[in-house]
Formats: sequence, structure tokens, C-alpha cells
Amino acid sequence: MISYGKQTIDQEDIDSILEVLRSDWLTQGPGVDKFEMDLRNYFGANFTSAVSNGTAALHLAGKALSWNQDDIVITTPITFLSTANSIVHNGSRPDFVDICPKSYTIDPNQVEEKVKIYRSAGKHIKAVIGVDYAGHPCDWSSLRQIADKYELQLINDNCHALGASYLGDKQYAVKYADLVTQSYHPVKHITTGEGGAILTNDLQLDDKIKLLRTHGMTKNPEKIEKSDGPWFYEMQVLGFNYRITDFQCALGSSQLKKLDHFNKKRKNIADVYNDSLKSAEFLKTPQLNDKIEHCYHLYPIQVDFKKYSISKINFFKCMKSYGINLQVHYIPIHLQPYYKTKFGFKAGDFPNSEYFYNNEISLPIYPTLSKNDQMNVIKKIKKLLNG
Ligand SMILES: Cc1ncc(COP(=O)(O)O)c(C=O)c1O
Repeated sequence: MISYGKQTIDQEDIDSILEVLRSDWLTQGPGVDKFEMDLRNYFGANFTSAVSNGTAALHLAGKALSWNQDDIVITTPITFLSTANSIVHNGSRPDFVDICPKSYTIDPNQVEEKVKIYRSAGKHIKAVIGVDYAGHPCDWSSLRQIADKYELQLINDNCHALGASYLGDKQYAVKYADLVTQSYHPVKHITTGEGGAILTNDLQLDDKIKLLRTHGMTKNPEKIEKSDGPWFYEMQVLGFNYRITDFQCALGSSQLKKLDHFNKKRKNIADVYNDSLKSAEFLKTPQLNDKIEHCYHLYPIQVDFKKYSISKINFFKCMKSYGINLQVHYIPIHLQPYYKTKFGFKAGDFPNSEYFYNNEISLPIYPTLSKNDQMNVIKKIKKLLNG
């Protein structure tokens, strides 16, 4: 079965894990520090905290930014549940802004409109979470301008865009967002099994995150008021156990070395899809612009099924019968029963996102997808759409 995404693990990755398993530290050892340093170097961040997964990273981002029940936080409907759930888990009110129909990322013009609407009602938006959907960076310079103008916090849910470029810069994420969150789930660009991190250039935020990820406790003598002795630790805030293990981090460091190579493979696969599918009249491949370099965590196509004699459901089923397991990213979050019931969102609220969802299909893309398998996927798509 060909799936839409999967991990790439080699002998070097396996050896790096075994080395940790034979060492004294399975968790809270040097592997975590090393992975955090490797992330800092690759992404150009001053500070990094590796955590247990990308969902934990988002939760801690909101905690570190002190979101509470009086706050409204905005994100896109086209993202994984965790992005919006992190707002709710912090007790704040989630709201959405529709996507731009070309980039499929949050539309900065509509962000500004929404800020103004809330302001005229005497309300204040606390933060915006942009999502670099599929590997296409958001319009970060516009989002930063809006954040500065209206004093909003800005978070980049960067889970899809490890190695993408914005304005020619691979280290763009921490330059625009106050906090950047990543995930290393197996379908992502690099994996630690489960895992994630928060990147920032803000020392105070990083201090808070490091405290929160391990029960809110510190052993740092400089931060403890009065110590009873060398065993002493102090709990200063209510935190969590969101730590990651050393063997996961060893895998992360080993994978990170190969990220550029993985992304080259993804780009080659995307080029083949772009070229092979451009002649399909009612099928849109991801749109690019000269501000960004896409890194193709996903390869989302838009198919206007109304113009073809096959429905999306039957297209999916037929592809599965050919051994090709497609996916859809994502069901707009405002249409999830929890969000409809608890916050009153409804169909029609974010039309670009809903239109996108109706037409979206994610094609297989991962570094080890063979040319033969990819050509088979393309052949089957053409057969179903032309048949
Ligand atoms: C955009 C986005 N945000 C957050 C997450 C959550 O990451 P994790 O699965 O590591 O908790 C994911 C993972 O699927 C994601 O795609």
C-alpha cells in the first residue's frame, strides 16, 4: 500500500538510538541538549526546548504567553486539531480567519479585518497562530506588521515547514514569530517517533517553557530563593511532564543531518507531479510564488469534482482499491462538532476553507517514494478523472 506520507529511517539512525540505549541516560541526559543545539543551529534560533510532541509544544506556547479565559486567539481552520485545541486548553476563546485561496494559509487582510471588528466591540485579540500549511510559509511579513500594529503575539505552527524558505531565508520562522512550534511525528520531514520543540529568540519565554515542560520545578541554584542543600528543587509554577527522551533526541539529531537531502527528494517528487498534472483542466497543483520555497510536507491538489464524472468519495475508494491510500488535510476545524456546539461556528463561516476542503486531496509524497510508484499514482489519477 502506498500511503500519503511515511518516515525514512536508515542504519545511522538506528545506530544512534542503540548508542543511547547502551548509555547511562535514557532521558534528561546529553542527547536532549545536543538535539536542542542542532535545532538552534539549523533554524537559527537563540533558544530551543524539545518536548514530547507538537501538541505539547503548542500547549506550552500558550502557557508561556500567559493566555487565559479573557483572551481571544485566532488561527486558520485548515490545520490539525492541535493548533486550535491549544487555545481551548489554555482556557482562551478560539476564533478563525479564512485562508487565502492561493497559498492555503491564513489571509493577513482578513486577520486585520477581524482585529478591527473585535476592537469596535471593545474586545482585544491576544494572539495569532499562523500555520505554514503543507510546507508553504504564511505571509509572515504582513502578519508581523499586523502583530506590531495591534500588539498581538505571533506564533508559527511550523510543523509542516521544516526546511522551507521565506524571502530566501530558511531560518525565517523565529525572525517573524515570537514562538515557533514543530512536530517530529513520523509523517513529518524528520522524526523522533513522537516529539516536538519550541523555538524562540526570547530568553524569558524560553525560561518559562523549560520550567513548564518539567512540572514547573527547577534545581538551578540561581533561580531558587533559599536552598536546603544539594538535593533541593523548587516548584515555582504548575507545570507538566512534557519531556522527550534521549533516544528520541538521538534519532532527531541523526535525522536533522539529512533534512536537506530529504527535502530535495520531496521537491523532485513535487516537480514530477507539477509537470504530469498540469494538463488536467480542473485540477490545481500547489501554487508557488517568488517569496517562498515550498518544502512539501504534503502535496495537496484541488480537484473540481463537479466537472468530472467521478465523486471525491469514489475517487478515494478506487485509489484505495489500486493500493494507494490518499488523505485529506484538513476537515475545517470550525466544522468539528465540538467547535460548533461549544463556540457556535457553522457551515458557511469560512467559505475559502470549506471550498478547499471539498476539493482537497493529499497525494503521496515522502523521500523513499519510488519513481515507479509515483508514475503509477499519476496514471491512476488520470485514468479515474478521464474515465
Ligand atoms: C499543523 C500541525 N500542528 C500540530 C500538530 C501536532 O503535532 P503532534 O502530532 O506531534 O502532536 C500537527 C501534527 O500532525 C500538525 O500537522
